[in-house]
Amino acid sequence: MSFDASEYGRRVADVYDEAYAHLTADDAVDRLVGLAEGGPVCEFGIGTGRLALPLVQRGLSVAGVEGSPAMVAGLRAKPGGDRITVTVGDFSSVRAPGEFALVLLAFNTIFALPDQAAQVACFRNAAAHLRPGGRFVVETWVPDPGAFRAGTALRPVRVAEDEVLLEAAVLHPAEQRMTTTKLRITGSGVRLLPANHRYAWPAELDLMAQLAGLRREHRWTDWTARPFTDESRQHVSVYRREES
Ligand SMILES: C[S@@+](CC[C@H](N)C(=O)[O-])C[C@H]1O[C@@H](n2cnc3c(N)ncnc32)[C@H](O)[C@@H]1O
Repeated sequence: MSFDASEYGRRVADVYDEAYAHLTADDAVDRLVGLAEGGPVCEFGIGTGRLALPLVQRGLSVAGVEGSPAMVAGLRAKPGGDRITVTVGDFSSVRAPGEFALVLLAFNTIFALPDQAAQVACFRNAAAHLRPGGRFVVETWVPDPGAFRAGTALRPVRVAEDEVLLEAAVLHPAEQRMTTTKLRITGSGVRLLPANHRYAWPAELDLMAQLAGLRREHRWTDWTARPFTDESRQHVSVYRREES
């Protein structure tokens, strides 16, 4: 399947920060500072630095891999954005210079890769960036089989006085794929924010980790380390490279 790692940013970069301004990074940053134990961090899909910039402010050395020059331009335009080395390319294959205590892949971005092979390659690439004992942290959603029948779906993501965000999806359960377009409706009009997902259940991600020589250390529902349960609709999973 042809895949262009710059496509998401080309369609979304100019409104990304505004559309996700309601997200708070504080819990994620606190948790990641603890997991990095003072060591260097590499964020795959670093975007405009929503998490990376606060991590730098907390004293960590942060590098990134990013497929979209437009997203990198957004990062560079922010205070401290020039202190982060970004390697432009596909994080399932591109190698950023250095050896890291923590590789981060946040905000569902593992599912931006088009198929299982690319996701397996991504886990292997993350492991190759880690020093012995280093951690790969993945944050993503948990597919709900009941909601994932073939066809189309429309759901509200966020409803506020000045903004309504709806997600329209076409579902392909046989391939664990969905193509989505978010409709962001504000006083300025309607903006379409397309994104593709190849989703996987947590157990499949664990197997990808095993193939890459990583073992699972934690799985939480969120960055505050709430236990992962039958009800969890998202997870933060921490995988660890062996010490030697
Ligand atoms: C949902 S955004 C998340 C950005 C940032 N991590 C955050 O939490 O705000 C996903 C980012 O990953 C980038 N991306 C998606 N697929 C990629 C790939 N295969 N290689 C490199 N970057 C990719 C997109 O351009 C975008 O910047």
